[in-house]
Amino acid sequence: MSLKHSYTLIAPFYDALVGGASLKARAESLSRLPREGQSKVLLNGIGTGLDLPHLIPGHTYFATDLTAAMLGRARGRNPGITIRFVRADSLCLPFADGSFDHAVLHLIVAVVPDPVRCLSETARVLKPGGSVLILDKFLRPGQAAPLRRALNLLSRHIATRLDVVFEDVLTRVPGLRLESDQPVLAGGWFRSIRLVKA
Ligand SMILES: C[S@@+](CC[C@H](N)C(=O)[O-])C[C@H]1O[C@@H](n2cnc3c(N)ncnc32)[C@H](O)[C@@H]1O
Repeated sequence: MSLKHSYTLIAPFYDALVGGASLKARAESLSRLPREGQSKVLLNGIGTGLDLPHLIPGHTYFATDLTAAMLGRARGRNPGITIRFVRADSLCLPFADGSFDHAVLHLIVAVVPDPVRCLSETARVLKPGGSVLILDKFLRPGQAAPLRRALNLLSRHIATRLDVVFEDVLTRVPGLRLESDQPVLAGGWFRSIRLVKA
């Protein structure tokens, strides 16, 4: 089963499964977008749109996702902001280099099969000085996590990878500087990370 198929099945239940647990962490992450000005912001892998109620008006948002059923639910929300929904693969974004001022990657870097490509595609479409807000679950360098690595053999095909070491991903994407990295959920398994493009 591909991720697109499994997220089509998960879509009706996604908000009940993820919404409450992630509410505070996603609100805090999105509060780091600038409060002033008119930026162009990429919401990469928007899912059902749980981020939308937390977005600051005034910016122009482009929300992408691979799964029509997830994107359809996001489209159905009425967030009162300027937003365009685009069905697109995070590993091959249909935007020109340097198109965006900021990018939001909530629960997508560790979901896709190739996190390095997901982050490097995001970096490509960002302007110099642009920021990336990441919220996701990552292992620490050298962390054994045998249960998560065992579960990953199945979960990577139906929902998410559980074996991604963020430091290994960042090392392979030149041009992104780590600005902050905070533990937010599940004893630090989930982290809120801010990067800036040089
Ligand atoms: C765990 S959900 C996260 C959704 C949302 N960002 C959130 O924070 O709730 C992962 C999302 O990634 C999407 N997805 C999976 N693979 C993708 C890909 N290659 N490109 C774009 N979206 C993808 C799925 O359809 C799903 O909506």
